[in-house]
Amino acid sequence: MILGLQWGDEGKGKIVDVLTRDYDIIARFQGGPNAGHTLIFDGTKHVLHTIPSGIFHDKKINVVGNGVVIDPVIFKNEIEKLKAVGVDLKNKLFISKKAHLILPTHRLIDKASELSKGTKKIGSTLKGIGPTYMDKTGRNGLRVGDLSEDDWMIKYDNLKNKHLNLIRSFNVDIDFDIEELSNNFFESIEYIKQVKFIDSEHFFNESLKNGKKIIAEGAQGSLLDIDFGTYPYVTSSTTTAAGASTGLGIAPNKIDDVIGIFKAYTTRVGSGPFPTELFDDIGNRISKVGNEFGATTGRPRRCGWLDLVALRHSIIINGVTKLAIMKGDVLSGLKKIKICTKYRYKGELIDYLPYSLESKNLEPIYEEMSGWDDDITAIKNMEDLPKTFLNYISFIQDWVGVQIKIISVGPDRKQTIIV
Ligand code: GDP
Ligand code: IMO
Ligand code: MG
Repeated sequence: MILGLQWGDEGKGKIVDVLTRDYDIIARFQGGPNAGHTLIFDGTKHVLHTIPSGIFHDKKINVVGNGVVIDPVIFKNEIEKLKAVGVDLKNKLFISKKAHLILPTHRLIDKASELSKGTKKIGSTLKGIGPTYMDKTGRNGLRVGDLSEDDWMIKYDNLKNKHLNLIRSFNVDIDFDIEELSNNFFESIEYIKQVKFIDSEHFFNESLKNGKKIIAEGAQGSLLDIDFGTYPYVTSSTTTAAGASTGLGIAPNKIDDVIGIFKAYTTRVGSGPFPTELFDDIGNRISKVGNEFGATTGRPRRCGWLDLVALRHSIIINGVTKLAIMKGDVLSGLKKIKICTKYRYKGELIDYLPYSLESKNLEPIYEEMSGWDDDITAIKNMEDLPKTFLNYISFIQDWVGVQIKIISVGPDRKQTIIV
């Protein structure tokens, strides 16, 4: 399992792509096109939203699992982009029949809901994720497998009409042309039928029985988890390890390794508390050097120091067995680096995540370490890394009690040190 330990955008896509070589099947287990996973190789950048990050490798099977929510319009676009760069998807990409569909009206509900919240908005990517999971758990959703039934258009109409009433009840002004949106949706549904719809839970378990190896690819990050994240400023799925079992139908005792990905600092896009956020020149510098702009929405990501209290929370919730540290190259040139090891919470020093991370109650407490000046982006072996960066790595490992096994020193597939 490969998942993000912060607020998303840790570099999951890159690591899935790097590790795909050693696996047979790559499966996304939750979230939807709110994700943006960036892969860079041979001088080209690719961004994936729903399709798993193993898609560029030959002879590997990529599956969109039952826990994912699919927007056919965005999915069609992704397929077209892959075809345009010569990726052959035949017998390589499957969708679970149990995955739920994002309707155009789900996106509109997202928009109406955010508008109605004003300054308290979540900062959603507006891809209709929350409303689609609401219909899933409310037992009203439309699933990929329904598309083979004769009455799916009736189901669509019923759901759409219910949504239109709900949108009116928000009392906000949004413009849309429902005919056009519906036609676009129908056309995309026909297009994505070229991808095989499968009973993915059977496929995974048969494959495991036959000795195949699977990567479960997470989206978002643990601090955006619906239960253990910074609620309500979270996404609507289980982004943590348990989500891979429900999102794929693979039992917890079949999971060997949980690889937790984190940046050498922290970023967050959208609203919500962020204790180590920087509002100064260092924050601006990290944003610029790290090119911290959302891969899905293009919004600037908020930047701050690494937060070990939050990181350890994520490691525990997920049962992380190995860590991957990303973007250490972005911190090159900083004389001093801060790392949060405690919070002052309502006057007391604590080293665990409290109920709320709102800044009025909470102040991060830092330790300071020496930075590194060298350009590390071409380094291939761990022992060639600057001593101060190795100290930083040791400090993190000792503090959280899990080994760092992957060190990413640049965005390219090749800029990866496997320890
Ligand atoms: P994901 O959503 O977790 O897959 O991450 P994103 O793709 O949204 O964001 C990660 C960004 O960091 C992408 O632009 C990557 O190309 C880039 N990236 C990944 N690893 C590194 C690294 O080690 N160094 C640098 N400088 N960039 C990286
Ligand atoms: P990847 O997989 C970073 C954030 C949004 C918002 C909140 C809720 O690329 O790491 P939603 O669209 O789910 O209603 O948004 O979650 N968010 C992400 N932030 N990376 C992502 O995905 C995200 N997906 C959602 O910015 O704050
Ligand atoms: Mg991303």
